[in-house]
This record gives sequence, structure tokens and C-alpha cells, in this order.
Amino acid sequence: MPKDDRERKWVTFNHFILHFRPVRVPAKTLSYTHTFGLGGMSLVLVLLLVGTGVLLMFAYEPAPGDAYDSVLRLQENVTFGKFVRGVHHWSANLLIVVMVLHLFRVVFTGAFHPPRQFNWVIGLGLLACVLASNFTGYLLPWDQLSYWAITISTGMLGYVPWGGGWLQAAVRGGNEIGRATLITFYTLHTTVVPVLIFVLMGFHFWRVRRARGVVVPRAPGEAVDERPEKVLGLPFLFMKEFVVALILVASVFLFSALVAAPLGEAANAGMSPNPAKAPWYFMGFQELLLHFHPVFAVVLLPLAGAVGLAMIAYLGYGEDPSGIWFVSRRGRALARAAAGVALVLTPILVMADEWLLDLAGMAPGLPPILRDGVVPVGALGLAFWAGYRWVRTRKSATRAEAVQTAFVFFAVAFLVLTAIGVWFRGPGMALGWAG
Ligand code: HEM
Repeated sequence: MPKDDRERKWVTFNHFILHFRPVRVPAKTLSYTHTFGLGGMSLVLVLLLVGTGVLLMFAYEPAPGDAYDSVLRLQENVTFGKFVRGVHHWSANLLIVVMVLHLFRVVFTGAFHPPRQFNWVIGLGLLACVLASNFTGYLLPWDQLSYWAITISTGMLGYVPWGGGWLQAAVRGGNEIGRATLITFYTLHTTVVPVLIFVLMGFHFWRVRRARGVVVPRAPGEAVDERPEKVLGLPFLFMKEFVVALILVASVFLFSALVAAPLGEAANAGMSPNPAKAPWYFMGFQELLLHFHPVFAVVLLPLAGAVGLAMIAYLGYGEDPSGIWFVSRRGRALARAAAGVALVLTPILVMADEWLLDLAGMAPGLPPILRDGVVPVGALGLAFWAGYRWVRTRKSATRAEAVQTAFVFFAVAFLVLTAIGVWFRGPGMALGWAG
């Protein structure tokens, strides 16, 4: 090819890239350990999911009598069928992990503070959509695992006061999990939720650019640099993103080639496995359900968590810690301490509730909503508030440091609850090694 033509091709390619990547970026944001490329990795995983999802649609049949057989046929008779299903399955699970890590990165670099506060809320919307996408996809193979996990999870909706029964029937498309549920989940999974994800992602990226890129890192005590040194986005940013994407795709492909996506026996509505568990990303809530009244475990506590998460971006801090890892040195020490306390305290409280505490025996006349809801949640809430005030006054923590400490405490406690639910709940959901 003549040199002129080659150069023209490069110019065209570069113009194409610059339509969606910034022309100049602050040099300091390019370090891998600033963002770890987690937002970009989430995008790559979403694209992998769409690509493999479309391929799966050629083989999948969304009807209770056919769904399981169509998946079996895909795995056994279609060239690369097992691999494509594996890539879809593992990417979906990895996406949740990567998104949560991205969320942690955003919190710990203070990247949710103005002017990025609304993008934080959009991010939470994306997290909700990705969970919805995973959840609706979970039912589609129509095996024992998926059938009963969705039965358990949609069963939790029944506990929503005033209208829980209606909500449950609406999601299931009737009283039981059946044909209507499968077609509802299939439609949500293949059209409604992906469209929502793409709309929100477009908005998310636009807000990143409107904030003039990602937050610029700085050391504790260092002032915000209003005019940071910039370098060209192409090649410096683009090449790094490209390398991360290649490594991620190669790793997902390799893993999917080695480990097949699980597929159990065909769904049997008459035989519930023991224990019957929700998908792993909802196990934290199923664990809460074992300790608190359902209205608290399924409605009030998750609602408080979601509202609390959204609110941290709007609290008004009187200082701008954005760009500083863990706010300050004291913030880092407090975060470490909060993680340690949550790591020790959560299993102790779970074991105490399982084996020692007998609230029903201690207060036999008390209605369950008070005994298993208002009283324990109120007591834990008071203990938390005392801890928060202690950190604020005795440790002289700023609001940003104290909020971050609270975030770490709750995040680690929820992760521990999830781990207990996944690995330490055996038959009858009794506490013990579940394998
Ligand atoms: C499909 C899911 C998501 C995708 C594809 C995505 C993508 C991205 C990308 C590419 C960036 C640029 C910097 C980076 O790579 O870290 C970014 C930044 C950001 N994301 Fe996300 N994200 C997703 C979910 C979330 C979630 C769950 C949250 C938090 C609740 C969130 C909050 C933010 C915020 C506040 C920024 C600005 C950070 C900064 O300026 O340093 N995102 N996101």
C-alpha cells in the first residue's frame, strides 16, 4: 500500500477513536493503580455479554418444556456452544465483582464528591440494572439451581408490606414460577434491561467527560491542581485501555475454555434442593432474613442501604478530599480498623443469634415485628451511632473520614454475610461448612 494511503488510514482511525475518547487527559490519571481500569473493564464485560448473548439467542428456546433441552443441545451439539455459554456466564458474574471494585475505587479516591455526585447516582442505577440482568438471566437455563434460586428470591418479595403479594405475582406472572415467569424474565433480560444499561452507560461516560475526566490523584495535604499537566489521549490513554481490554478478554476466554458454566438437573417443581439458596449476590439478603423480621431484612435494611449509598455524595463535607486515597492518613487507619471490627464482629453476632440468643424465649408476648425487627435493629443502630460519634469526637475524624469509616464497616459486614450465606449454610440453612 502506498505510504500516503497508509497515513490516511491511520488518520481516519485516529479520528474515529477521538469521537469517543478524550483528546487530552491529565498525565497523573494514567497510572494503572489510579483507576485500575475497572470502569473500562466493566464496559468490556458488558460488550462481551451482548456479543455472546446474541449468539445464545440463536439456540435458546424460552419455554419451560424446551429451555433446558435447548441449553443441553447448545452445549453438546453446537460448535463452541459450551464455550460461548461459559463466556456469557463467567462475564456476568465477573461484571458484578468488577463493578463493586469500581465502586470501592470511586469511594476510596473520593471521586463521588462534586462535580461527580450525580454520576455516582447513575453508577448506582447501573449497579441495580446489572443485578437485575444477572437475576433475570439466572432463571433461563431452567435447571434445579436456577428454578429454586428464583423461587427463593421472588418469594422474598412477598414480605414487602402492603402489596408484597401483588408484587410477587407480578414478577412471577402468577402464583408459581412457570411459563409466564420465563417469558417475562427472558424479555427483561434480552431487551428491557440491556437497553437501560446502554442508556445509563452513555449518560455515565458523558458525565465523566463533563467533569473533565476522572478525578486527578493527589497526596494528602496537596492542593487541587486547577491546571494539571495533560498528555494526548491517543496514544497514551487509549493504548493502556486497549492492553487492559485484551488481557481481560483473554483471561475470560481462557477461564471459560477450562471451566464450563454450571448446569444441574432439569427443573423439578416438586423437589426442592436442601438448602435452597438465592444467587450468590443476593445471599447477604437471604442471610439477613435468617436474623431479622422479613420486613426489615427484605425491605427496610436494603432500602436504608441504597438511600445511604446515594446520599453520601450529597452530605456536604466542607472540605474537598477528592483525589486523595482514603481521604487522609487518619482516614486510611480508620478504614482499616473498621474493616477489622466488621470482620470479627459480624460472624460473632451471626453465631450468637444462631446458638445463644433466644429472643422468642426472652420476650414471649412481643409481636415478631418488634421482637425480630424494631428491637434488634434499633439496638444495632444505636451501637452504630455511638461508634460513629466516638470516631467523630474521640478520634477527631472529619465528616469525610467518618462517612468513609461507616462505609467500610457496612461494606465488609455485608461481604461477610454473603460469604457466610454462600459457604457456611448447609442443609436447613443451619450454620456449618457448606462446601
Ligand atoms: C456497567 C457499569 C459501569 C461502567 C461500564 C462504568 C464505567 C466507568 C468508566 C469507564 C469510568 C472512567 C474511569 C474508570 O475507568 O474508573 C467511570 C467513572 C466513574 N464511575 Fe463508573 N461504571 C460503571 C458502574 C459504576 C458504579 C456501580 C458506580 C458507583 C456507584 C460508578 C461511579 C462512577 C463515578 C463516580 C465515576 C467518576 C470517577 C472519577 O472521576 O474518578 N460507576 N465509570
